[in-house]
Amino acid sequence: MSSINDSRCVLVTGATSGIGRALAIAISELPSHPKVIGTGRRPDRLKELETAGLEVISLDLDVDAKSLTRNVRGIIQKYPDLDTIILNAGFQREFDFLNNDVDIDSTSHDSPTLNDKVHRNLFAVLYREAQLNYLSVMAFIVATLPHFKELAAAGRPCMVVNVTSGLCVVPATHLSNYTASKAALHSMTMSLQSQFQGTNIHFIEVVPPLVESELHDFEGTTERLSNFWMPLDQYIPLTLKGLQKGEPHVSCGAAAFAFEKFEKKKYELAIKKALPTAPTPDFKPVTRGQWFLSETSLKGGWGWKK
Ligand SMILES: NC(=O)c1ccc[n+]([C@@H]2O[C@H](COP(=O)([O-])OP(=O)(O)OC[C@H]3O[C@@H](n4cnc5c(N)ncnc54)[C@H](OP(=O)(O)O)[C@@H]3O)[C@@H](O)[C@H]2O)c1
Repeated sequence: MSSINDSRCVLVTGATSGIGRALAIAISELPSHPKVIGTGRRPDRLKELETAGLEVISLDLDVDAKSLTRNVRGIIQKYPDLDTIILNAGFQREFDFLNNDVDIDSTSHDSPTLNDKVHRNLFAVLYREAQLNYLSVMAFIVATLPHFKELAAAGRPCMVVNVTSGLCVVPATHLSNYTASKAALHSMTMSLQSQFQGTNIHFIEVVPPLVESELHDFEGTTERLSNFWMPLDQYIPLTLKGLQKGEPHVSCGAAAFAFEKFEKKKYELAIKKALPTAPTPDFKPVTRGQWFLSETSLKGGWGWKK
């Protein structure tokens, strides 16, 4: 268990609006006064953050893994104290697979059709949403881990905070690809929590419910959703409290309800490295040995029984 109160240098991706911006500012105002680095692409928003006293870095995460790794290494070189990363940047698009077909002539990933409301280029939007919400997060973690391992070996706790969504528990089917990308990150976070337990590198999952932000502007649903989203001034203090307590899942509202109801048991099994086992009519044990599932086998998990 680690607390954001112990962090000395915190980097927040997607800090130019919504949850990321409010969280980055709130963390910079903690009594421990950690250095906070906000990243994003919009220069005017980065300037605003700088004026508020944060360090800022212009960082596009929708790039190949090599470029991202190079950028992350540059950040670590500039901020060797970096001990906490909050991987928050994300975007979402609606998908209607029933009524849209891919335009095979425009499947380039470089196509600017992220702003194409009809999503004629389904592939480009699919790939880029998965890239930003899942692959870029993993690339960022992989590039940061050697540095965190060094800090952790020297006794410094480090935190990796992945921002998923309540929708990773129960999909909003019109946001199918977004939901799937968040479910992938949720699953990966559980595995990382399990792999790194007992170490000084702490993986935390922030699972927001519907929250005030600019995420829904593109789809034109902001006005409608603002009738029932959680305002940032309610959401941020709850999230900050969870990060201060070092909870493995920081959630509230409907997302916390869904998580508690459907995910808690899964999480407990993952942490114990114990896959669920149940006798079924179609299960035929192997005669000269069998795979078995156990909480007590080597490190827990799958084992081979002679
Ligand atoms: N708001 C909700 O209801 C809700 C619910 C569940 C989960 N979430 C998650 O919470 C996180 C924050 O979202 P939000 O609601 O605060 O949305 P938001 O206001 O739209 O903020 C998204 C942030 O991501 C950054 N971003 C987008 N594309 C980027 C790219 N290619 N490279 C680098 N940065 C990029 C944006 O900055 P630039 O445009 O300046 O690059 C912006 O700062 C997301 O992961 C979202 O999925 C939100």
